[in-house]
Amino acid sequence: MNNDIRTVAFIGAGNMSRSIIGGLIQNGYPSDRIIASNPSTGKLEALAEQFGIRTTQDNLAAVAEADVLVLAVKPQLMAEVCAPIAELDLEGKLAISIAAGVTCERMSAYLGGHASLVRTMPNTPSMLGLGMTGLYADPVVGEADRAFAGTLMGAVGEILWLEQEAGIDQVIACAGSSPAYFFLFMEAMEQGAAALGVKPEDARLMIEQAAIGAAQMVRQNPQSSLAELRAQVTSKGGTTHEAVLTLEQQGLRDAVKDAMQAAVTRAQEMAKQF
Ligand SMILES: NC(=O)c1ccc[n+]([C@@H]2O[C@H](COP(=O)([O-])OP(=O)(O)OC[C@H]3O[C@@H](n4cnc5c(N)ncnc54)[C@H](OP(=O)(O)O)[C@@H]3O)[C@@H](O)[C@H]2O)c1
Repeated sequence: MNNDIRTVAFIGAGNMSRSIIGGLIQNGYPSDRIIASNPSTGKLEALAEQFGIRTTQDNLAAVAEADVLVLAVKPQLMAEVCAPIAELDLEGKLAISIAAGVTCERMSAYLGGHASLVRTMPNTPSMLGLGMTGLYADPVVGEADRAFAGTLMGAVGEILWLEQEAGIDQVIACAGSSPAYFFLFMEAMEQGAAALGVKPEDARLMIEQAAIGAAQMVRQNPQSSLAELRAQVTSKGGTTHEAVLTLEQQGLRDAVKDAMQAAVTRAQEMAKQF
């Protein structure tokens, strides 16, 4: 863990903030240097009780004290939430946005021209500490601030720094949206198992365990390409070969490629919205 300790204010204390705060505390980050701000009190009380952090319903009080702001409200609320924050003196404060679809340019405008910004794109498995986050820093952001942002998002999983902001859309296609591709594939397998007469609970167990096992095989064999791993379990003329051939003939690769392009196109459209 980076031992650069700063006061961090989470603006919006929802699911994503909760996960990052949990990860930070688990990594030994001091709880008295974390503040969460949220309009309703239920989530704040739960965070204070579970992690011993400081909480407030006053965004401006949290920002005034903080060295780092984590902007973690829904994208459609970002303009409204940032307007009063932009009136404060933000000099020297690093702003980290986790909002999907809000570009650095837009975020900077919301914050009154503040440029010390890191835009991040986490995904849902961050809730389990198994997240994948892409990060893009405005060119004015210095090394120490970049490292701090990396440590913050690294508290909930792997991180990937992007050289261009457009890389965020690629992260959306590859990691932000992709847990749903895997869920869809597993759902299709569940239906396939039902058609074979497998009991739902047995299908769930087998699909879940095979997915975890396959993911672990990928992780534990970095020297093997994905194609090699597939070939290793696909003997010619065997059952797996027949199944994989069917998927190939049905156009799985093209469908996935088109789906990923569709995610990028939608991300580009959404970036114009907020
Ligand atoms: N969840 C994911 O997997 C994921 C992945 C990538 C990116 N993101 C991004 O992360 C951000 C947060 O997502 P989330 O899933 O954590 O959403 P969430 O659970 O709905 O959290 C958003 C929080 O913002 C609070 N809020 C609303 N108005 C506010 C205000 N004026 N000032 C301060 N806080 C306010 C809400 O409080 P109340 O409930 O009391 O209204 C809520 O607790 C979003 O921008 C989203 O695009 C999420």
